[in-house]
Amino acid sequence: MSDGKLTTEYIHKVFLDPKRGAVKTTEIYDELAEKYNEIVRGFQYKAPRRVVETLASLIGDRNRAGMKIMDLGCGTGLVGEALYAAGFTQLDGVDPSQGMLDVARSKGIYGELVCAYVGVGNEKLSFPDNSYDALTIAGSMGVNMMPCEGIYEMHRLVKPGGYIINIVRQETVNDIEGFKDRLEPMMSEMEKDGKWKLVSRVLFPDYLVDQGGVIFTHQWGVDGTVASESALRSAGNLLSQVRAPPPAPWPDGGPESQRSPCCGLAIYNKPNQTTEEQQFKRPVGNNDCVVVWSFVRSSVYY
Ligand SMILES: C[S@@+](CC[C@H](N)C(=O)[O-])C[C@H]1O[C@@H](n2cnc3c(N)ncnc32)[C@H](O)[C@@H]1O
Repeated sequence: MSDGKLTTEYIHKVFLDPKRGAVKTTEIYDELAEKYNEIVRGFQYKAPRRVVETLASLIGDRNRAGMKIMDLGCGTGLVGEALYAAGFTQLDGVDPSQGMLDVARSKGIYGELVCAYVGVGNEKLSFPDNSYDALTIAGSMGVNMMPCEGIYEMHRLVKPGGYIINIVRQETVNDIEGFKDRLEPMMSEMEKDGKWKLVSRVLFPDYLVDQGGVIFTHQWGVDGTVASESALRSAGNLLSQVRAPPPAPWPDGGPESQRSPCCGLAIYNKPNQTTEEQQFKRPVGNNDCVVVWSFVRSSVYY
């Protein structure tokens, strides 16, 4: 199952039929639970590693073991395992598939594991508001899985200043009905409401063997500066890897498909002058990775 075409076909056939619905999909996860890790290993699934890299780059030398982390849609605990191995040892998880949760529990790395759907109906999880220093979710938003509304619960669970790292398959973000015109506008709406800030939106080509993923990182922003300090730290790390001179600025970012393939850095002002964005592409293996940073103008230091 390591062939890219087979991977895409498999995902569409087994998981994405809109007629199947959430409950039947959960039954499929229950049935697959024991084989899940082997299946995604065949797909060369990279999201768990990316979650850890992203979180580690944001928190600097903060005590990892002291951070409470919620892993939404935790499945069999692959993200939890990667976090635990990196020293993030206070983990809770939520997933609607009891079969997947049983595998996660057998790893002995999670504290609480709760069987529930997130973002479906108006139900809130039993965890109190502002419980976690960071929340992770990998591969769990999409058709027949967590809907866009799940972002409200993500925000509710995190403490002010905490991080939300959400990895979504690129096809879901760009092409799938119910997500392509909704997920990012809903995220932006929450930003306009002052609930969180986009720290980074990173495309990575090797989510699965031939499929890209998008890493959305938000910070529960209590004022205009919370996100930007950490964003600057991460941006500084990434900027140090930029090797070519800046390409011409893109006036408004433009659709991803039309962005310059050059390696370099572009800084430009949006017409309303409220934000500045730095965008650059850098090579990752044979592919390009696009990183978009967005800061509040008042707290940009460069
Ligand atoms: C592709 S698996 C990813 C599991 C794990 N995060 C990983 O990276 O291996 C998707 C998971 O999302 C869970 N899921 C589906 N709908 C969900 C919902 N509404 N809320 C939370 N999790 C959900 C599924 O049960 C499944 O375990």
